[in-house]
Amino acid sequence: MAEVAKSNGDETAVVSAQSHGTVGDAVGTAVISPDAVENPGLPPHRKRITDLDEKSERTAERWVYVLFYLSIVGSLGAVLAYMFFPMESGDLWEIRLNNMFVGVGMTLALLALGIGAVHWGKALMADHESIDERHPVPSNSETREAAAEVFTVADQESGFSRRTLVRNSLIGALIAFPIPGITLLRGLAPQDQDPVVLLKHTMWDSGVRLARDHGGHHVGAAIRASDVTIGSVFHVVPENLGQATNVLDEKAKAIVLLIRLDPDVIKEPEDRKSWSYDGIVAYSKVCTHVGCPVALNEQHTHHLLCPCHQSQFDVSDQAKVIFGPAKRPLPQLPIAVDDEGYLIATSDFTEPVGPSFWERLK
Ligand code: FES
Repeated sequence: MAEVAKSNGDETAVVSAQSHGTVGDAVGTAVISPDAVENPGLPPHRKRITDLDEKSERTAERWVYVLFYLSIVGSLGAVLAYMFFPMESGDLWEIRLNNMFVGVGMTLALLALGIGAVHWGKALMADHESIDERHPVPSNSETREAAAEVFTVADQESGFSRRTLVRNSLIGALIAFPIPGITLLRGLAPQDQDPVVLLKHTMWDSGVRLARDHGGHHVGAAIRASDVTIGSVFHVVPENLGQATNVLDEKAKAIVLLIRLDPDVIKEPEDRKSWSYDGIVAYSKVCTHVGCPVALNEQHTHHLLCPCHQSQFDVSDQAKVIFGPAKRPLPQLPIAVDDEGYLIATSDFTEPVGPSFWERLK
């Protein structure tokens, strides 16, 4: 049995239910209190100054298009700042100036665009309360017609078609805003050299000694073959790395792992037999997947592990990929020993190091 008792007016409602069914059904009375506060409804509508005074309306309109034009100035300013404050030299002060002025330009562009849009909406677009009724999601033809009607009304009330200065300045600002982003892409490519040539060559060359990497710009001592014991791993850079214009860029391409294995476990094809020296092999440290440093060496299995996505390379077998997303073996640096017992490269890498790129096989 269920019973609902409700007093006249808006006082307490009592709901009681009694079970005649299975054990466990609810039995009891619920007391529902009326809302403590009555819905006050919408406050009385107050007209804005732009609704009452034509001069204020014109001023607001002027502000809106001035802000949109200011946004264009900001976007163009960011482009000019990028051109007039270049950072190709790598000088820290130049990089700071470039970042600051490009940032100021883009901030102005975005801020003025945002403030202009908000001011347009608050001061000039139609200002009346409306109730948006909810309808089922699939729309029928009447709904679509109603939607088209809404667009027409919105266009009329916002003045999008009528206020041509505001509309055109907004379109201009929106077109100009992405331009700095496109311009910044230029900074990804070198200024005066073919990027493909740069990617294909490193500082390794015939006779360049292998030296220890001491981190950052620092180059350690050249390495003798006798320094490298079986199982040891050296992080190696060209001895002449300090002469590079962009030391870190060159290091990023030329960095090598030097490992000594038992000569009996190394599998070398005939044409590579001269690339190693008494079990010492040198492989690029740049992962062929997306370029992380392959720095984890498993001495007993002769596996090199890339910590980024777990690619594994077999050092005893030409650094072939044995697991993971990398698709190519690590390039091998051909090495030998000079008259004084130092390890030297006998040439540059014979293929580009690091991840693939479109022109790699050109
Ligand atoms: S970068 Fe080495 S596995 Fe992805």
